[in-house]
Amino acid sequence: MAKTITLPGLIDPHVHLRDPGQTHKEDFFTGTSASLAGGYTTVMDMPNNAEPIISLERLEAKIAGAKSKAVSDIGFHFGTLGDNFEEFPKVIDKVMGLKIYMNVTTGNFKIDADRLIEIYKAWPGSKPILLHAEDDVSDIVFKTLAAVPKQTHICHVSSEAELTFVMKAKEKGLPITCGVTPHHLFLTNKDADRLGAYGHMKPYLKTAKDVQFLWDHLDAIDVIESDHAPHTRAEKDSAEPPFGVPGIETCLPLMLTAEQEGKLNRQQLIDRLHANPARIFNVTVDDTTVVTVDMSEYELVNEKLLTKAGWTPFAGQRVVGKVTNVTLHGAEAFKDGQVIVQPGSGTLLP
Ligand code: DOR
Ligand code: ZN
Repeated sequence: MAKTITLPGLIDPHVHLRDPGQTHKEDFFTGTSASLAGGYTTVMDMPNNAEPIISLERLEAKIAGAKSKAVSDIGFHFGTLGDNFEEFPKVIDKVMGLKIYMNVTTGNFKIDADRLIEIYKAWPGSKPILLHAEDDVSDIVFKTLAAVPKQTHICHVSSEAELTFVMKAKEKGLPITCGVTPHHLFLTNKDADRLGAYGHMKPYLKTAKDVQFLWDHLDAIDVIESDHAPHTRAEKDSAEPPFGVPGIETCLPLMLTAEQEGKLNRQQLIDRLHANPARIFNVTVDDTTVVTVDMSEYELVNEKLLTKAGWTPFAGQRVVGKVTNVTLHGAEAFKDGQVIVQPGSGTLLP
C-alpha cells in the first residue's frame, strides 16, 4: 500500500472557468471537476469572460450557471473598467473581490491606469481588490495604495522586480498580499522556447534567476494560485494563440514534489494553498473538508486530466502526489480519482 497523506481542502483564489461564453474551453462542471482532481475544494473565478462580469445581471447569470454545474465550492470576483461604479453596491455581497487588469492579457479587459485611484475609491467595504499589475505599473499601484489603502492582492507575481515591489510595499505597512503561480515557480523563459504557445501566458515566463528569487523569498509569497487558464489546442496552435495555461490539476503534485526536494516544508505548502487564501478572501474553513493524496511517483499525462482543455505544460514530468479522494463538508465528492457527486452539489460563496 502506497503512502497516503491527508490535507485540508485547497483554496485557489484565481481560476478562469470560462463559463458562460467560452464553454468549449471549460465549463463549471469540468472546471470544478478538475479542481477536485487537483485537491481544491474552493475556487474563485475571474471576471474576464467573453462578456466580462461588470454588472449585477451578468454576475447573476454566471452564478446561476455555477449553481447548477459546480461540484466544488466556488466564488466569483467582479470586474471593472472603471465605468460601472453603480453596480458595486449591488454586487458587493455576492462576490469575493474585485479584479482589475492593468496589463494586456486574454480578453483585452484592461483599464486605463489613470482610472485606478477612482476605482479604489469607489470599491465599497473591505473585500480585496486583486490586481493584474506587472512590473511596469508598480509605481501607480504604490501611489494608489498609499492614497487609498484598501486590501490588495497582487496576482501572479513572476519576477524579482515584481516580488521586490510587494516586499517593499509590505515593509511600508501597505495592506498588500501576493500570489505566485506554479508555472512561474517551475518554468523559465527557456521552457517558453521549448513549449511555444503552450508556454505562452501573462505574465510571461521569466529567467532562472527570477525563478530562484521567488523560491528564495517564499516567506514574502502569501498564496500559490494556479491562474488555471484553459484554452483548446486548436486555439494554442493558431496564428495568435491566447495567453494562459491550465494549472489546477498539476499545482499540488508539483508543490508536493518540491517539498520532497526540500524546497519548502509541509506547513509552508498548506499555508499558501489553504490557510492564507482562506484568511485573505474570508473563506470559512471546515475540518470535514479534506483531501487524500497518494504519495507514489507517477507521470503527469495530458489524457488523464479532467480539464476540458486536455493538456498541461508539465506533461511528461514525474511527480509525487495524486489526489485520490476528496470529502467536501463531510460528504465524499471525489473517490478513487472520479467525481461521484451530481453537478450543482458545490456550495456558492460567499
Ligand atoms: O495567461 C493568462 N491567461 N494570464 C491572464 O492574466 C489571463 C489568463 C486567461 O484568461 O487566459
Ligand atoms: Zn488569471
